[in-house]
Amino acid sequence: MTMGGRTDGRLANKVAIVTGAGSTPGEGVGTGKASAAVLAREGASVLLVDLHAERAEETRKLIEADGGRAEVFAGDCTKAAACEAMVAAAVEAFGTVDILVNNIGMASVGDVVDITEQEWDRALDINLRTMFLACKYTVPVMAAQGSGSIVNISSISALRGDGTIAYSAAKGAMLAMTVEMAYTHGRQGIRVNAIAPGHIVTPMVRSIPGQDSQYVTTLRNEAGLLGTPGDGWDVAESVAFLASDAARWVTGVTLPVDSGVLTVTPLAMAKYLRAIPD
Ligand SMILES: NC(=O)c1ccc[n+]([C@@H]2O[C@H](COP(=O)([O-])OP(=O)(O)OC[C@H]3O[C@@H](n4cnc5c(N)ncnc54)[C@H](O)[C@@H]3O)[C@@H](O)[C@H]2O)c1
Repeated sequence: MTMGGRTDGRLANKVAIVTGAGSTPGEGVGTGKASAAVLAREGASVLLVDLHAERAEETRKLIEADGGRAEVFAGDCTKAAACEAMVAAAVEAFGTVDILVNNIGMASVGDVVDITEQEWDRALDINLRTMFLACKYTVPVMAAQGSGSIVNISSISALRGDGTIAYSAAKGAMLAMTVEMAYTHGRQGIRVNAIAPGHIVTPMVRSIPGQDSQYVTTLRNEAGLLGTPGDGWDVAESVAFLASDAARWVTGVTLPVDSGVLTVTPLAMAKYLRAIPD
């Protein structure tokens, strides 16, 4: 078996695939990039999968500077052949796959009337089909060794209305697949869990017009119970927990990483939100 770059963490000797392990260029860090870095910090060898090789390469440099071990795999995970080759590349480079983080996602706004068929198909392809295909080729490797942990990056958009019909449909389906796969593959030693990030800030969010304004930034922070900002690193720490043997009896759950926004009514937060100058 191939050893990880670091041997002192809770993921020593584990092999991980992270899809969307690059990050949209800009200030901050995406959830895939951060997750890959934390998994590597904890001792995993990580295959960094991204459509944009240069983005994954940035993540590889970050990991190697920290003493970790990672390889880049450039491919389009909406395609079966790419996902099959991705899994083969992880096995070839590191010997197996213990952890799969399905992180690829793309924001898609629009309601059920306005969205076009093309926009619907694209949103479902990127946000859901990528997960289906990555699992399709990874699960047999995990089943053969009798263990594995899959972490699906969904969204609070799966659980609360926010005007993103196709994105919400895809993210909700990820949660349904999480439960379904946790059932179907539990006796093969495979755990399947999801994370629902809340109003975190990543470079992808900053790139959406209006999202980087002081007003929206303050609104995003104040909407949560803690009143503080969250980012890709907050998601990454929960990914590492669910991926690790520390979560060996945890499967089929959705863990919100959201400063508690899913637990509160809008009226209860009005006292914080009305004080924000626009
Ligand atoms: N940023 C948020 O506020 C937020 C909130 C909830 C959920 N999420 C979810 O977190 C995940 C990551 O978001 P982010 O803001 O870090 O995004 P990001 O754009 O920084 O990272 C996603 C990466 O996926 C890659 N990618 C896209 N399509 C691909 C494909 N077909 N094949 C391979 N790679 C592909 C992109 O090149 C990019 O590097 C997404 O699933 C997103 O829906 C984000």
